[in-house]
Amino acid sequence: MSTSTKPKRIGILTAGGDCPGLNAAIRGVGKTAIVKYGMEVLGFNAGYSGLINCDYFELKESQLSGILTLGGTILGTSREKPYKLVKNGKKEIDKPEKIKQTYNELGLDCVVCIGGNGTMKTASMLAKEGLNVVGIPKTIDNDVWGTDVTFGFDSAVQIATDAIDRLHTTANSHQRVMIIEVMGHQAGWLALYSGLAGGGDIILLPELNYNIRSVCKKIESRYEENKPYSIVVVAEGITHPKGKSAALHVSEAIQTYTGIETRETVLGYTQRGGSPSAMDRILATRYGAFAAECIADGNFGSMVAIKNNEVTTVPLEVVGGKLRLVKPEFSLIDKARKMGVSFGDEFL
Ligand code: F6P
Repeated sequence: MSTSTKPKRIGILTAGGDCPGLNAAIRGVGKTAIVKYGMEVLGFNAGYSGLINCDYFELKESQLSGILTLGGTILGTSREKPYKLVKNGKKEIDKPEKIKQTYNELGLDCVVCIGGNGTMKTASMLAKEGLNVVGIPKTIDNDVWGTDVTFGFDSAVQIATDAIDRLHTTANSHQRVMIIEVMGHQAGWLALYSGLAGGGDIILLPELNYNIRSVCKKIESRYEENKPYSIVVVAEGITHPKGKSAALHVSEAIQTYTGIETRETVLGYTQRGGSPSAMDRILATRYGAFAAECIADGNFGSMVAIKNNEVTTVPLEVVGGKLRLVKPEFSLIDKARKMGVSFGDEFL
């Protein structure tokens, strides 16, 4: 006797800062869910706002074609935090309740939440309220706890590295010190990797306490060694006065203390734009396809992750709200120091 089982109906949302690879992840989830498991897929617009407002559209397989290489997210995103108290410390509406209403009225079997640590924290709280959720870690910052790497990171490293490469030629022509500020929120992964890939002479990370005197001494010693220009890569999260960019703060200090002509560039949102790198397309596809498999297996309440290049899952309650920062003892830092790269914490 055939038992007709209703096809699973799943929702997908993308939340937090956008990054290259989001559409590759949506495609990975959607194609696997539809083609392999015959699921129905709904795309929710603008992150958690779409769940709160029941703002969605059906994602058909045809709509998943041509988006692998597309930057941004076809679903849009927002930084909506449903559990955050709003306006004058009281909840205007019970947003988690609205999300549960949407989930139940649409008969969803699961929601795939693609985002960073804030998104995972909300997903974890929704799971505690009984919703089936699966998280996929994305961010150019690479600071999501529980996974070795997030998609978006590789693309941003390449964008920042291309920019640093260009600064070498103009710094050399003018014999200047060039400061470039990269994103990364409170983590230094983007600055560390692009700084090393771009041949940075000095790399300042939020996780290592830099000292401007040490930075200036390094630049002066380079000058004395007939190295007339220097490239300084700073993470946006390093210590600097409010209202002034990290790059400008460091640039002004160098110019003042050394008298060497210095210029600064804040790379900004270009690190979040454009088509994903090949590695990010692969990683986002792996995450998306594995998330769909987790749903088919009834494995909810977890975030998909990469550990030693193998896909796995990590409980959302372990991930939520934590940051994965660069460890000072990270071997790459040691290797860089041995090659003469300064992290601004020497001479102390
Ligand atoms: O989390 C990604 C990120 O680009 C961070 O590197 C950066 O600090 C932040 O988002 C910027 O936030 P927003 O897009 O809200 O300006």
